[in-house]
Amino acid sequence: MAAIVYLDNAATTPVDPAVLERMLPYFSGKFGNPMTAGRSSLGDEARAAVELARREVAALIGARPEQLAFTSGGAESDNWAIKGASERAALERGLERPHIVATAFEHAAVLESVEAMRRRGFEASLVRVGRDGIVDPGELRRALRPETVLVSIMHANNEVGTIQPVAEAARAARERGALLHVDAVQSAGHVPIDVDELGADFLSISAHKFGGPKGAGALYARDWRGIFPLVDGGGQEWGLRGSTHNVPGIVGLGAAAALARERLPAEALRLAALRDRLHEGLAARCGRVKANGDMRRRLPQNLNLRIEGIDNEALLMAMSEAGVVAAGCSACSGGPAPLSRALLAMGLSAAEARSSLRLSLGAATGEEDIERAVELISGIVRILRSRGAR
Ligand SMILES: Cc1ncc(COP(=O)(O)O)c(C=O)c1O
Repeated sequence: MAAIVYLDNAATTPVDPAVLERMLPYFSGKFGNPMTAGRSSLGDEARAAVELARREVAALIGARPEQLAFTSGGAESDNWAIKGASERAALERGLERPHIVATAFEHAAVLESVEAMRRRGFEASLVRVGRDGIVDPGELRRALRPETVLVSIMHANNEVGTIQPVAEAARAARERGALLHVDAVQSAGHVPIDVDELGADFLSISAHKFGGPKGAGALYARDWRGIFPLVDGGGQEWGLRGSTHNVPGIVGLGAAAALARERLPAEALRLAALRDRLHEGLAARCGRVKANGDMRRRLPQNLNLRIEGIDNEALLMAMSEAGVVAAGCSACSGGPAPLSRALLAMGLSAAEARSSLRLSLGAATGEEDIERAVELISGIVRILRSRGAR
């Protein structure tokens, strides 16, 4: 059987072999606890590995190592930033009705954290997103209030890959005395990130979106005094996120960050070229294909298409049988039918969202994958259309 054509890298990526090689010794031979450094050589080597990873992640995003805390991934980092920073700012500013701003098509980890803060008495505004998949900085500015404590905006959307005007959002937030959290889970390792250029006070990343392992991520903080601890006890991560370090996962995150930094400019160009070939191939072979979201201000590895006359559930099922893996919406939205919350937030109709397909490329994607994907998907589209499937 031919190998699978994997075009769902926005959901998760395989661990890069070089990353795995660096992780393996830390499962058994080098199994020490970093908190025992100074008491045992095993602890020393584990501590050294964690601190090397911290420097590698810091270098990827233009931060200082002490501005990073390791977490279990993107959702945890998002929850921590939103809940921990908004609660602290509200308390310090003595606000009665503290207010949070987020965009309407954030990942569920952000939207549901904002909802959790609403239950705790905070007010919240979700800023509309245009059909181009980009938030209007003017609208975001208008959503801000004197009581706004935090603005949360993603660097790149997980479904349409569109890059958001983060630096403008940062300026608007700063003018109001609000903090800025950036969910960079989809963009880290794929496009250059500089926390100072973005103006981020907090930034979330996750290893498994760029060749690292699942269950490892980090939160960047410009200043840890702006956030409450996430896990009390244990003393790890500046005393803010207790629990024994996931040393192999952290080593994997660091290794993936170092690799991404080294490969970044060339890999981004390679993936953008392959992505454009996939787009052109599908448009030519299927016809009646439209891109969702702006095609220029976008991650190089993302393609999100509306294929008219097609129900994405039937399409994805047939694709999966043919060995092509993609998505109708993000893995985290839930629900039986793949209806993309992000596309609906961008103003697409339910019918348009139901005919949409997310194709996300990765380090292992080659030219032959693109050719096979065009061949197989266009063949399936032809059959589904001839059956009148909707
Ligand atoms: C934009 C965004 N934020 C957060 C997450 C959650 O990351 P993790 O799976 O590491 O918890 C994801 C995962 O799909 C994501 O795409």
